[in-house]
Amino acid sequence: MLALTSLTLSHFRSHLRADLHLDGRPVAIHGNNGAGKTNILEAVSLFSPGRGLRRASAAEMARRPEGLGWKLKGVLQTSEQAYEIETWSDEGAARQVRIDNKASNQIALGQICRVVWLVPVMDRLWVEAAEGRRRFLDRIALSFDPSHAEATLAYEKAMRERNKLLKEQIRDGAWYRVLEAQMGSAGHRIHEARSAAVQRLRQAQNDAETTFPTADLQLIQSEGEMPESESDLVTALSEGRMRDMAVGRTLVGPHRSDLIGTYASKGIAAKDCSTGEQKALLVSLILANARALAASEGAPPILLLDEVAAHLDKGRRAALYEEICTLGAQAWMTGTGPELFAELGARAQLLEVDEAEGVSQVKKS
Ligand SMILES: Nc1ncnc2c1ncn2[C@@H]1O[C@H](COP(=O)(O)OP(=O)(O)OP(=O)(O)O)[C@@H](O)[C@H]1O
Ligand SMILES: [Mg+2]
Repeated sequence: MLALTSLTLSHFRSHLRADLHLDGRPVAIHGNNGAGKTNILEAVSLFSPGRGLRRASAAEMARRPEGLGWKLKGVLQTSEQAYEIETWSDEGAARQVRIDNKASNQIALGQICRVVWLVPVMDRLWVEAAEGRRRFLDRIALSFDPSHAEATLAYEKAMRERNKLLKEQIRDGAWYRVLEAQMGSAGHRIHEARSAAVQRLRQAQNDAETTFPTADLQLIQSEGEMPESESDLVTALSEGRMRDMAVGRTLVGPHRSDLIGTYASKGIAAKDCSTGEQKALLVSLILANARALAASEGAPPILLLDEVAAHLDKGRRAALYEEICTLGAQAWMTGTGPELFAELGARAQLLEVDEAEGVSQVKKS
């Protein structure tokens, strides 16, 4: 199993202090708009590497008006043991991590706590820019291998510096070599991890009977080809310098990849599907991600499904709940009213969030 059995939020967004006691069942949270439901899911998302489900900075998450710092504490129960996990930010500084009272880091936390999520802003994933789809795939790759976060950061840092040289019209190759070597190494790792993630999602979808539609996925380059090896990527970068200098940015590498989705049984591109179908494809992929993790890690990840119930018809909703319960995942779900979770009955723990004068309160429903 993998579940938080307790969660404390201190000075985190609208929560001055909230103590949640969980029993391992899926958590269904209801409350009015602005009550503080998504804030709780965001808190849980910070137990995985990166900026969390809103991609917010540490400073943005500090409770206003005080805005000094925030802290999240949890007890994470796995099949083997329980961990005390903490993450916090002091005065907007970079987020820190402690595991069992010892200083640690986000990647190490990611190794014990796998978290994947689906949030309403992803509803337009298939029709918007490729960046969102790359990020979606990167979250999945990261759930399989938390060190994917390092490769992404290393690549972006080196590329930013290379782009700066390009804009300044620097021609001396000596300035570029180290950066291009770093981009080659990290870029190749990123591409491999993404390809592996696509493969694992494909496998997990093929292996299961589910009411959700199969999403065929294809990793492509928006232009040209992704160089096959690390050294091919380094060569492509060095040979492309003059071309890149003309536009002031790097035109080859994994930052030019895109993820194409197809509603398999209909043969229709995800971007041309109906809103509900697009959502169903995302749910399908998140469930496939969870099943793949359950198979490889021995436990499904913690799932954060923000407002997922509202977008699904009654039949699909019941099917989703059924799959979550079969997986045995601690799924955190939100909705405005408890009726959205009726089909779950006693299989879920129901919490209500209330907001009064800017302070959120969580109680058992
Ligand atoms: N840093 C912050 N400090 C204090 N309050 C904040 C902070 N950031 C956001 N909020 C408040 O938190 C509330 C939003 O909480 P949240 O997004 O969790 O609501 P919700 O219950 O998910 O609502 P909805 O049903 O509309 O999605 C808003 O009232 C917002 O002003
Ligand atoms: Mg919300």
